[in-house]
Amino acid sequence: METMKKKVYLGSDHGGFELKNVLAAHLREQGWETEDLGCYSAESCDYPDFAAAVGRAVTANEGTLGLLVCGTGIGMSLAANKIPGVRAAVCGDVYSAKMTRRHNDANILCLGARVTGPGLAEEIADAFFSSSFEGGRHARRVAKIAELETR
Ligand code: RB5
Repeated sequence: METMKKKVYLGSDHGGFELKNVLAAHLREQGWETEDLGCYSAESCDYPDFAAAVGRAVTANEGTLGLLVCGTGIGMSLAANKIPGVRAAVCGDVYSAKMTRRHNDANILCLGARVTGPGLAEEIADAFFSSSFEGGRHARRVAKIAELETR
């Protein structure tokens, strides 16, 4: 399912810095607008800082999506999912990337640069960013995820 090209906020720590840059160039080549919220070098840094920045940007700007890259993608997803309204999904395969947009309305893709090579990462990103939420029965379920934030 195709969607309109939108803005993608990017973030990484040192472990994901190189892959983030590869994916940023790949997304821009395909017409996506990107904004990199850091980190800006391969110097050691703390992934929650960048997960928070991207999570806040995505939830503050309706219709935008995010991409977070660390060593495994897991730390980024754990941190980003603390921000209300974020649905961050770690994906290591193309099918999950497509389905988490279609069924979970995931708004941030998390990738692990020490797990997933650049070729597969590009295919995963393509699947995620070109898919859109199906709504219907899935909207009820996603609403139940949001309800958990207030309990
Ligand atoms: C940094 O060494 C590493 O812990 C981080 O990139 C990430 O994999 C955490 O989940």
